[in-house]
Amino acid sequence: MSENYDVVVIGGGPGGYVCAIRAAQLGLKVACVEKRGTLGGTCLNVGCIPSKALLHSSHLFEEATEHFDTHGIEVSKPKVNIEKMMARKDKVVDGNVKGIEFLFKKNKITYVKGAGEITSPTTVKVALLDGGEETITAKNIVIATGSEVTPLPGVEIDEKNIVSSTGALVLPKVPKKMVVIGAGVIGLELGSVWRRLGTEVTVIEFLDRILPGMDGELVKQTQRIFAKQGLEFKLGHKVTGAKSTKSGVTLTVEPSKGGDAEEIKTDVVLVAIGRRPFITGLGLDKAGVELDERGRVKTDEHFQTNVGGIFAIGDAIAGPMLAHKAEEDGVALAEMLAGEEGHVDYGKVPGVVYTWPEVAAVGKTEEQLKEEGVDYKVGKFPFTANGRAKAMENTEGFVKILEDKKTHRVVGAHIVGPAAGDLIAEVVLAMEYGASAEDIARTCHAHPALGESVKEAALDADKRAIHM
Ligand code: FAD
Ligand code: NAI
Repeated sequence: MSENYDVVVIGGGPGGYVCAIRAAQLGLKVACVEKRGTLGGTCLNVGCIPSKALLHSSHLFEEATEHFDTHGIEVSKPKVNIEKMMARKDKVVDGNVKGIEFLFKKNKITYVKGAGEITSPTTVKVALLDGGEETITAKNIVIATGSEVTPLPGVEIDEKNIVSSTGALVLPKVPKKMVVIGAGVIGLELGSVWRRLGTEVTVIEFLDRILPGMDGELVKQTQRIFAKQGLEFKLGHKVTGAKSTKSGVTLTVEPSKGGDAEEIKTDVVLVAIGRRPFITGLGLDKAGVELDERGRVKTDEHFQTNVGGIFAIGDAIAGPMLAHKAEEDGVALAEMLAGEEGHVDYGKVPGVVYTWPEVAAVGKTEEQLKEEGVDYKVGKFPFTANGRAKAMENTEGFVKILEDKKTHRVVGAHIVGPAAGDLIAEVVLAMEYGASAEDIARTCHAHPALGESVKEAALDADKRAIHM
């Protein structure tokens, strides 16, 4: 049966479901097509949420095994019950995805379970999960189909011995050895999960550094911390092949710049070399929707594709592949479709690696500022000088704030340390309001709190930190 909508969103991830909710809040008639069988997309089902559930459980395990004693807590040797840990993670995921279904009902959004294909600028044909077909007619179509794992030629993912992040979130037992290919966000987060649970983890990275794109000084310290925790790094190397047998995997590894190949034997391999937009089966060819040189749906700053009435958001388009960016895209687009203004500044999207300590950043790195010839000030403060961090025994890391000397605006912040992912929010807000380091420095921060390190770093931009 065909029905007329103002908006049909294809994909129920953070981009799509948020766009649908915001559009419905603004009075538009909305349908959302999702083929997974559950809402929430990559993020809630096989991404952000399950990974953070396992990061938290494994962090607690490491606290119990390594750090309780320091606090004067004596327990018998903790053991991992992987089945129970996974079941808790699944319960967290389930609660989250059901929550989105509730929000859809509350906002009177039609949830169509099936795979959508664009058949004209106003129609989407859905192959329903329960069988059969439905055609939806809408004034506007939003592509929010997200992304998928980038494959590595010669290393075929079977989600058993050679896994993507999805398989790494459901391993049935703690492997003895794991090789992670790619020292990016997934490699470090999921590598940390399994290391904490007892796996010997080696991270092989093509470049000579981990976390490409992040501030060099931040990355140096972060790598030192991770290496101390037991992650082994093999930088400047690439994996050129993998042989999988019942007993494990043998990888062929070569220096990135050329040289002798070697073999590495391991139980499990995690391929984490990036993600790419997912547009398979969407019918973009027939609809005439253009892609950019990296296979992303090409849009203007209003999320409009080259075909009138067809828009795109989230991981499927340019910009950081992050859930909160996808959400902001969704909100801005919904507001524009309802005749309001909407805008997302990708320069102020924070990025967080949820290891412990956490690593968080927003805005420009020092390397970028130098390259752009911007005259800038640096304010830095170590957690070793923060009272709360000392009380927590979490003193590794620092806060760094960068201010443009000419405009007196904060243009970047880089934090490695306890709860860095929460601390960065203050600097994002400051940047949104065009604040200077002085503005942050003159804001009263509660004591004793980790956030005082942000204030002290801001004070240090004028070399007047109090506790250093
Ligand atoms: P998605 O979440 O990928 O959703 C797209 C949806 O569209 C999918 O459910 C898919 O089934 C559906 N779909 C595709 N094609 C069709 C079709 N033709 N018809 C119907 N439905 C279709 N980001 C963070 O910000 N923080 C994190 O901590 C974080 N952790 C992550 C951990 C992992 C392991 C991974 C893999 C990713 C993580 N991300 C994280 C990234 C985050 O998941 C993505 O940026 C986010 O999900 C993108 O949202 P989206 O709505 O654009 O796409
Ligand atoms: P990534 O882009 O973060 O890192 C990939 C890494 O693999 C890079 O360091 C790259 O140099 C390296 N690499 C590429 N090809 C290689 C090769 N052949 N051999 C060895 N190394 C190679 O990608 P990742 O970790 O897969 O994550 C994908 C995306 O998911 C991220 O871009 C991020 O946006 C999102 N994500 C976000 C999280 C968060 O916000 N906390 C958590 C997990 C994922």
